[in-house]
Amino acid sequence: MKRDRFRNPGKRGKGKVKKSSPCTLGAAFFFCIATTFLVAPAFAADAPTGVTNIFKPLSTPAQAIHEVSLLALAVCAGIFLVVGGLLAYVIFRFRERPEDEGHEPPQVYGSNQIELAWTVIPILIVFVLFLATARTIYDVQGAAPPADALNVTVVGHQWWWEIRYPGLGIVTANELHVPVSEPGKARPTFLKLESADVAHSFWVPQLAGKTDLIPNRENRMWIEPTQPGTYVGNCAEYCGTQHAHMLLRVIVHRAEEFTKWVTEQKQLSVDDPQTRAGRDVFFATACVNCHSIRGTPAGGTFGPDLTHLMSRETLGAGTAPNTAEKLRAWLRNPQTIKEGCNMPNMQLTDNELNQIVAYLVTLK
Ligand code: CUA
Repeated sequence: MKRDRFRNPGKRGKGKVKKSSPCTLGAAFFFCIATTFLVAPAFAADAPTGVTNIFKPLSTPAQAIHEVSLLALAVCAGIFLVVGGLLAYVIFRFRERPEDEGHEPPQVYGSNQIELAWTVIPILIVFVLFLATARTIYDVQGAAPPADALNVTVVGHQWWWEIRYPGLGIVTANELHVPVSEPGKARPTFLKLESADVAHSFWVPQLAGKTDLIPNRENRMWIEPTQPGTYVGNCAEYCGTQHAHMLLRVIVHRAEEFTKWVTEQKQLSVDDPQTRAGRDVFFATACVNCHSIRGTPAGGTFGPDLTHLMSRETLGAGTAPNTAEKLRAWLRNPQTIKEGCNMPNMQLTDNELNQIVAYLVTLK
């Protein structure tokens, strides 16, 4: 009879099945899913976390992406629960038992209702996810920069970030400084992304999604951080041996602090007569071919701008803290700190090292 096609053949084992077990399994599944996905957004972030975290958005585009990702995760969790729960139930309910007679159960072929259901329901789910995602992409990518937006160009290099503020005449590296957006006073930063060599990807999860930096192409993205502090990120596209040491910091300032930072960065480098010896070593060596120091003839553009070197927290894009000691180790042989980087060992003598470090640490 057609109606009985899916019924358990015979009533074997009835009454012996402990029916609570599939429920326990289901509860365990549900608990795992709930802890992973549903509890995360409950901890609303009120400050940068200090580690990369997609669940604590603190910027408009990151918030939009967070919402659509929760929808996708919830849908996937629902599917997982239904499929996993049914599977666990079937495995348990129809397991082999000693009193089985050892012949095959009835073989069943075809059911229009079931086939229709498992075709139509997934199509509807995919369609909902598609619409929600398309809407978020449209909102995030279609946002027009307001007239007072800060414009920054980020150039990816193997393996560091060049950060230029064309409207302000500032060039720095690896640390992007931007103003905070406060309620009623949005101050978004629009980034133009380029690459000097291979493909990289700019990703600071609390601020926005990933966007690639591709040679001979200009990509754009924007951030609108709502809390001051330091946000961390990294290159998210494998770009060579030191890809993992291509870290990013976004330092978000209150309005007045940002103005102060801009004023300091606009200044030319200090020229302290006491460190002239180090400056002379710098100019007598090949350093000037790759590095710029504004206010001096050094105008190289292959390496990071050193005008305000000591205002940065790290060396080698997050590889080491930016201290006099590490700077000395870096200058002695950069390859021991960041193997494969483009800066060669300059074969400086101890005396030259001391002089050049004494000069560089004045570049605040
Ligand atoms: Cu740059 Cu990975």
